[in-house]
Amino acid sequence: MKKLFRNPAQIVTVNTNGKNFKRGDELSDIEVLEGRSIISESGLIKEIIPNSKISKYKFDEEIDLSGKVLMPGLVECHTHTAYAGSRAGEFKKKLSGIGYEEIAKSGGGINTTVMAVRKASFEELVSIIKPRIDYFISQGITTLEIKSGYGLSYYDEIKLLQVINFLNNEYAIDIIPTFLGAHTFPPEYKNDHNKYVDIIVNELLPFIAENKLALFCDAFCEKTAFSAQQVIKIFTEAKKLGLKLKLHTEQFNNIGGLDAAIDLGAQSADHLEVIAEDDLNKFAGNETVAVLLPGVSFFLDYDYAPARKLIDAGAIVALATDYNPGSSHIANLNLIMSLAALKMKMTIEETISAVTINAAKALDVSDKTGSIEPGKKADFSVFDISDYSEIVYQVGKNLNCMTVKNGNVIYKSA
Ligand code: NIG
Ligand code: FE
Repeated sequence: MKKLFRNPAQIVTVNTNGKNFKRGDELSDIEVLEGRSIISESGLIKEIIPNSKISKYKFDEEIDLSGKVLMPGLVECHTHTAYAGSRAGEFKKKLSGIGYEEIAKSGGGINTTVMAVRKASFEELVSIIKPRIDYFISQGITTLEIKSGYGLSYYDEIKLLQVINFLNNEYAIDIIPTFLGAHTFPPEYKNDHNKYVDIIVNELLPFIAENKLALFCDAFCEKTAFSAQQVIKIFTEAKKLGLKLKLHTEQFNNIGGLDAAIDLGAQSADHLEVIAEDDLNKFAGNETVAVLLPGVSFFLDYDYAPARKLIDAGAIVALATDYNPGSSHIANLNLIMSLAALKMKMTIEETISAVTINAAKALDVSDKTGSIEPGKKADFSVFDISDYSEIVYQVGKNLNCMTVKNGNVIYKSA
C-alpha cells in the first residue's frame, strides 16, 4: 500500500540525521517543512516530496491534511496506566495538608492501589485500562509505555504484565511493558524487605525474562521504597537476563539511585526533581535519558526538575505524564508540554523533541519512531492548527485530530 499524506501546513520532522536522540542545543532544532507531502509504503515513511511532484506518483490512498500540522506520533515513555481503584480519598487528605510520603508511610499510597489491583480479575483490568489507552491514542500517541508495579506479589505482578501484553496485541499502537515489581514493599514484607527483594530476583525476574513479559525492569529508589543497594541487586540480575533498565530516582531524596542507574547503563533515569547540582553533568557522557515528569510536581505541589540546567549540561531530556493514581493523576501529554514550558522554562521546540525523539530514545525505539525520516515507521500525530506553537499555547486542549500508526489512520476526531 502506497499512501500520500497530502499537503499539511507544516511537517515537524524532529529530524536527527540518523542520530536518534537530541541533547543540548539540538533539542531546539525540530525542522519545520512547508509545501511538502509524505509518502508511506508498507507502514514505513518512504519519502518526503515537494507538493509540485505529487502528480508524478500513483497512490492507493490519499489523505488530505491541508491546513493541519503533521508531527511524529507522540511517545509516552513513563506511565502507570495499569491500575485499578481510586485514590480520591487520599487526594482529599492531601488537599487538607497531609503529604504524599506521609500517606505512603502510614500504609496508603501505592499499597492502596495494590489492594485494588489484587482484587481485580484479568478481564476487569483489561476493561478498566482500555479507555485510558483510547484517550492516549486520541492525543496522537503511537507508542506507550505501561508499568506493572501495583501487584507486588508473584501472581499479581505477572497478572498485570499479562494484561499489558494482551493489550499490546489488541491495539495498533506499540505498548511497551515495564516490570516495576520494585515499586514499594507490599504489606506482607513490611518487616522483611530483603525477602521481597529475593522474590523479585529469584522468582519474578526469571519467569518474566523467560516468557518475555517485559522489555524493561524499573524500580523506585527512595527512602520509603528501595535502597540503592537493593536496586543494584535487582538491576544486576535483570540485566543478566536481558532486560533493559529504568529507574525512578531523586524524586524526594537523593540516596544514590542516579549513580546506580548510570553505572548500570540504564536506558533512562526518571523524575530527578531533587537532583544535586553536582550531578547534573552525569548525563553528558552517556546515553541515559533524563525523563522529567512535571505533572508530579504540579499534582504534589513541590519542586520541578531543573530541565534548563539538565539541557544545558548536555542531557538527553524527555518528558512524560507519569500517569498514575497517586502522584500524577494526569493523562494529558499536552498539559505536560505546557507545564514544561511554563514551569521548567523549556522552549516549545524543546518540549516537542522531548515527547517525540527523546521519549522514543527512553524506550530504546528511536531507531524506528519518534521522528519523520525515510525508513522509520509512518507514525504521525496530526494537529488541527496551522502552526505548531499552538500545541503548547493551548494548555491542556487536545488538538490532535488524527493518529496514524504504521501508515494506518487509527483515530480521527469527530
Ligand atoms: O512515579 N514514584 C513512584 N511511583 C509513582 C507513583 C505511584 C503512586 O503513587 O501510585 C511515581 O510518582
Ligand atoms: Fe512513575
